[in-house]
Amino acid sequence: MGLLSRKVTCNSHGQDSSYFLGWQEYEKNPYDEVKNPKGIIQMGLAENQLCFDLLESWLAKNPDAVSFKREEQSIFKELALFQDYHGLPAFKKALVDFMAEIRGNKVSFDTDHLVLTAGATSANETLMFCLAEKGDAILLPTPYYPGFDRDLKWRTGAEIVPIQCSSSNGFQITESALEAAYQEAQRKNLRVKGVLVTNPSNPLGTTMSRNELDLLVNFVTDKEIHLISDEIYSGTVFSSPAFVSIMEVLKDRKLENTQVWERVHVVYSLSKDLGLPGFRVGAIYSNDPIVVAAATKMSSFGLVSSQTQYLLSAMLSDKKFTKEYISKNHKRLQKRQNKLVSGLEKAGISCLESNAGLFCWVDMRHLLSSNTFEAEMELWKRIVYDVKLNISPGSSCHCTEPGWFRVCFANMSEDTLKLAMQRLKSFVSSISIDNQTHQDLKNMRKKNRTKWVFRLSFQSFHDREQGER
Ligand SMILES: Cc1ncc(COP(=O)(O)O)c(C=O)c1O
Repeated sequence: MGLLSRKVTCNSHGQDSSYFLGWQEYEKNPYDEVKNPKGIIQMGLAENQLCFDLLESWLAKNPDAVSFKREEQSIFKELALFQDYHGLPAFKKALVDFMAEIRGNKVSFDTDHLVLTAGATSANETLMFCLAEKGDAILLPTPYYPGFDRDLKWRTGAEIVPIQCSSSNGFQITESALEAAYQEAQRKNLRVKGVLVTNPSNPLGTTMSRNELDLLVNFVTDKEIHLISDEIYSGTVFSSPAFVSIMEVLKDRKLENTQVWERVHVVYSLSKDLGLPGFRVGAIYSNDPIVVAAATKMSSFGLVSSQTQYLLSAMLSDKKFTKEYISKNHKRLQKRQNKLVSGLEKAGISCLESNAGLFCWVDMRHLLSSNTFEAEMELWKRIVYDVKLNISPGSSCHCTEPGWFRVCFANMSEDTLKLAMQRLKSFVSSISIDNQTHQDLKNMRKKNRTKWVFRLSFQSFHDREQGER
């Protein structure tokens, strides 16, 4: 141990968060319709599996792209030897055009500002290496994606200071919350280097309003700090209000080529919009040439393979395909989100109104035994071990109010989602029955004045479930 680096033993990675623990529990007992119908259903993974048929049908129609060929001639050697760290020009062009298309072509992107990375994970960390180090802080609105503890803090040594948002205004960012976070960082002797937001938000599944975006631009202008907009979910916006990229705000406010313009950076990836997290394709888009140059050098630690770039440049340059894909993806996500929301409603559970993402931000405060994070963990454990659904507790997203959970809907079949909702519904009614029993027994005790012990056990739900099967 003594010979290992401090990174190896420090716990700022966040791996022990319930977000990752839930995945581990799922891995031990994964649901399978045939092989393991009583297993845990994975609802803690923001994957988009709704459009694989479209991707696969494109692949079938484009054999050259898949088999390292151009006009039927092999380009295997060319791809195998390709060593330009800046990426294939054709791929970078196709990617910036796709980013613009997702934004309704209201803004355009220049390949000279783009740095390819191995997913948004690498993009966020690389940007942090460019902007911050030990003793520096980045402000992040809560609730936030649990992976940020790893991506922004672990290897860079920088700190996250939360911007505390609350359910009272749908978790929107306010001027006072921004200012309070800034003051809090200063109180901790940390130098604030910037604000990072995810738009659309993970875990809220909402797009940021113009008002919030304006507020952010004003704030970073005033404090002379950076703004990182992680727009990894920009292609998942399925209903109004429409998605507004931070680049669009800068353009509309005629802030191009100003100082603040150079301090705004966008993170993107094909993991969510195209559903390709295994391909590891991400990007940093920055208006600061120094950041672009440094990030390009750093990107040699996490490059995108040339065959991936070749395949995707062909796919994303096919405008007929991208148009159809974007539109069908929106429709399918909308339909699936509706299914989750109505399934939850039937179980007496509501969620934050959302218009984007691969998840809903679900309000289970009424199911807590007390308004505490201990009670949230207690409920989460019951949902994972007894109900057999892996969802992510709000505390793993640093939410300040107990009782919120992130529930994913696009990484499973419609039938699996239906089953998950049935399991949840019977769990909620079992709690109501338990509460009713509790009330009846209380009344009885009042009447008979006898001593008794009430037991609201995990087992009672489990027994009832077994009986029903
Ligand atoms: C907001 C956000 N940023 C970054 C990532 C990492 O994505 P990637 O698979 O591209 O590394 C995720 C993945 O869930 C995310 O939700």
